[in-house]
Amino acid sequence: MSKCHNSSIETDVAQGMHYVDTLTGSVVPPIVPSTTFARDENYALVSPDHSYGRDENPSYQTAEKMLMRMEGGSDAMLFSSGMAAATAVVQSLEPGSHIVIPSVMYWGLRKWMVAFCARWGIELDQFDSADPDDLADKVKAGTTSLIWIETPTNPTWDIIDIETAAEIAHGAGAVLAVDSTVPTPVLTRPIDFGADIVMHSATKYLNGHGDVVAGALITAKNDECWEKVAAVRAEAGAILGSFEAWLLQRGMRTLFMRVRQASATALAIAEHFDHYNGIETVRYPGLESHPGHEVAKKQMLGGYGGMLSLCIAGGEAAALEMIKRCNVFIRATSLGGVESLIEHRYSIEGPNSPIPPNLVRISVGAERVDDLIADLEQALAS
Ligand SMILES: Cc1ncc(COP(=O)(O)O)c(C=O)c1O
Repeated sequence: MSKCHNSSIETDVAQGMHYVDTLTGSVVPPIVPSTTFARDENYALVSPDHSYGRDENPSYQTAEKMLMRMEGGSDAMLFSSGMAAATAVVQSLEPGSHIVIPSVMYWGLRKWMVAFCARWGIELDQFDSADPDDLADKVKAGTTSLIWIETPTNPTWDIIDIETAAEIAHGAGAVLAVDSTVPTPVLTRPIDFGADIVMHSATKYLNGHGDVVAGALITAKNDECWEKVAAVRAEAGAILGSFEAWLLQRGMRTLFMRVRQASATALAIAEHFDHYNGIETVRYPGLESHPGHEVAKKQMLGGYGGMLSLCIAGGEAAALEMIKRCNVFIRATSLGGVESLIEHRYSIEGPNSPIPPNLVRISVGAERVDDLIADLEQALAS
């Protein structure tokens, strides 16, 4: 049973869409591990929506409804990872298509897209994520079928104007897909700005506790394009486990408070270390000096996210030395959890990376802001 009473998105999400089990009164949805679903003596499915665990899973329902509600979409699908969600969109395209992606985005996906498109016969162009005019130049009207963007871009935090990208995409007859992992629907709802598909690495903020690898797609419309993407999940089978889907709905119930707290702490850190001794630049869209600040103000509502990067004076060696000295920040990859992480992306991505070697990426968690600032201060001072 789930009844909504014209309450706000935040309230609906905190209550798992007002979930109350009709059989037991449980306020937490059950985990349904069954891989198959019975038919009656007339061979009709006992529950018309459920036949086999790769097509549909009752354990997904609460999480998918929460995602639809938060993003303002008409349908949502969980996947086994953020990569599985993103690659399903690209795999739904025909060979001969043309796609446009930013020069800076989650590097693992960019790497996969470049290799897959070459193999699959899809033409791929990259636009300069720091240049607001470059996207329009790279799009080919009538030929481009997908524009993929990520904003803020990980890990330089350039801002891409979603509304402009949607106008360009639709003017060319293309679909706009937005990787919205970093802002989450708490801060940005891409569909409100014209996007067709929203993608999340639910591994990050949506789950928020570093214990699930998951992905999600949300669509503005149940159209032919969405049907093709849904077929990729059902047929290729990159589905999430029932327990992971359950953990995800539990994590999302606290999404609003986690993201707001992380955003406030990240802004305080960014302001504290702006023009600080030993730091060349602070990259954070909440700073007025950030080139994308005005666009960020338009499309990031209520905060600028929990991710920022510090470019350290003294280059790569100084950046690695500073990371080495951190005691509170944990040296690890990933983002969006309750524990703050610090990372040197250039070491992970290697010499072909567009990321400056002196860039240190920070994912702000739920710790006290003064502990985090003190840790960075001592790491810079030593
Ligand atoms: C912005 C962004 N998109 C997509 C992904 C891929 O997600 P996953 O690791 O869940 O496959 C990541 C992972 O780091 C990411 O940071």
